[in-house]
Amino acid sequence: MKLEIEYREGLQLPDGWLALMRAAADAAERVEQLPQPAAVHVLVTDDAEIWSINRSMRQVDRATDVLSFPTVSYPQGTHAGCVPVLLSREYDPDINAVYLGDIVISLDHVRQQAAEYGHRPERELCYLLTHGLFHLFGYDHITDADRAIMRKMEEQSLTDIQMERFDRSELIQRAKDAMTYSYSPYSHYRVGACLLAKSGKMYTGCNIENASYGATNCAERTALFKAVSEGEREFVAIAVATEKYLGWPCGICRQALYEFAPDLLVIVACGDQEDSACLRDLLPHGFGAAADILGRE
Ligand code: THU
Repeated sequence: MKLEIEYREGLQLPDGWLALMRAAADAAERVEQLPQPAAVHVLVTDDAEIWSINRSMRQVDRATDVLSFPTVSYPQGTHAGCVPVLLSREYDPDINAVYLGDIVISLDHVRQQAAEYGHRPERELCYLLTHGLFHLFGYDHITDADRAIMRKMEEQSLTDIQMERFDRSELIQRAKDAMTYSYSPYSHYRVGACLLAKSGKMYTGCNIENASYGATNCAERTALFKAVSEGEREFVAIAVATEKYLGWPCGICRQALYEFAPDLLVIVACGDQEDSACLRDLLPHGFGAAADILGRE
């Protein structure tokens, strides 16, 4: 992808960040399977400038993390990867690409959100760029279903360049370590989990069985209840480790997790095998907390 990156004077981007942004854009292009070479302009700026752009272009009087201004209008329900004819009409021979639009990112928000999520700022920058790019490709997050699709594309794209919003291998390793504490004398099925809160803290858990089988607690809920009972309410991802086969969370755990984090990334790991999915896809038409229901339009 032709990524034209502009940044405010004085806002020097550390070495390597431009290359990371290009890698993120190329990954998004691959994941979307763009039928034409694309060009995008990115302005990396500060809160003051993104605020003024937000006010003048969108009449929203506040700073934000990322803004995107698509030039192509996609027919309802379509996106760049599935409209080759439309995009070929937009092809600009002068730049030898289809100009998809502009993205503005606030570096102040990048730093602030990276600290909040407990990861490196370059990861947050790549995430915001990827998010903006998928908007330019025609994705949106107004409905739950659209949001789940967009998140999946973003996740796939960031995973491609090992730039997820957290360190996946660390989460998996901690889940595997937690599995060693499993108390499972009845099923002998050992499970470990590691839940990442938005605060950046990780909470581990194992399954804890009981002679009256029904009193058993799964690893995922052990981790969740530890976290919630220490004040956490928002979560980013959970890794679940099992021994013989990949073990997706049971229905009760899906419901318990959905209460706090419908968009949770669920990673399952077994030996060197792994897979992942968004919780919304694991619990379609999920029954959510009041905030989630009231948030729906
Ligand atoms: N188990 C979990 O820990 N998580 C799941 O999502 C599925 C089941 C545990 C509970 C029980 O100790 C054992 O696996 C067999 O059901």
